[in-house]
Amino acid sequence: MTLVTRPHPPALPHGDIREVLAGIYFVTGTIAMPGPLPIRFSRNMTILREGDRLVLVNSIRLGDEGLAALDTLGKVTDVIRLAANHGMDDPFYRDRYKARVWAVSGQRYTAGFNTSAPEVYFEPDVAIDERTELPLAGARLYTIRSKPPEGLLVLERHGGTIVSGDCLQHWAEPDAYFSFLGKAMMKMMGFIRPHNVGPGWLKQGKPPKEELRGILDLEFANVFTSHGAAVVGGARDHYRPAIVRVS
Ligand SMILES: [Fe+2]
Repeated sequence: MTLVTRPHPPALPHGDIREVLAGIYFVTGTIAMPGPLPIRFSRNMTILREGDRLVLVNSIRLGDEGLAALDTLGKVTDVIRLAANHGMDDPFYRDRYKARVWAVSGQRYTAGFNTSAPEVYFEPDVAIDERTELPLAGARLYTIRSKPPEGLLVLERHGGTIVSGDCLQHWAEPDAYFSFLGKAMMKMMGFIRPHNVGPGWLKQGKPPKEELRGILDLEFANVFTSHGAAVVGGARDHYRPAIVRVS
């Protein structure tokens, strides 16, 4: 494995940071696909307040105003990466705040979609699995051995709260951060559905069915997705049909 660092990608358009549940903040921003076509769609960062500290999950680089707003909430100390296709902005936050970056064991930071490319642009500080003591009280990782592996961050807060990478999504409709082509492409590929299991991740990662089914054994009422809206209340029942369908 060769580490070849690269300049931090620029901040892309994003919305305001919103406190959805006490101590849990959510911000929606943009991902732009590499290549000549303007294919853009949305992604979310979840910010967990832990005393004076902030833990970023599914990090998105914010613009100057966004960073100023973030700094009023607390001090960023940790960044958790759950999905192998996310994480491009983790190096930015490590540099800016000297934050510790935690990534699911077995994941690598590769450019583009080839997750087995020999070069990586970043190495995390900690490789995490179910046994890892995470930098949050009442938190654990549920790992799914897709290729590459994916994590769900399971919190005891608010009746059980999951932060998800690409596994659990909730794009009931496209939002302001989709380009025209992004909208058409994601609709065609089956991404635009409420309470959905990420179709791209399913196809690419081929997660073991029993581990998908195991999500329904977790206690959770809320899901903070990296794609789509947050699901507040009754989340396990909302996701049950999609999980049963794919497992
Ligand atoms: Fe994603």
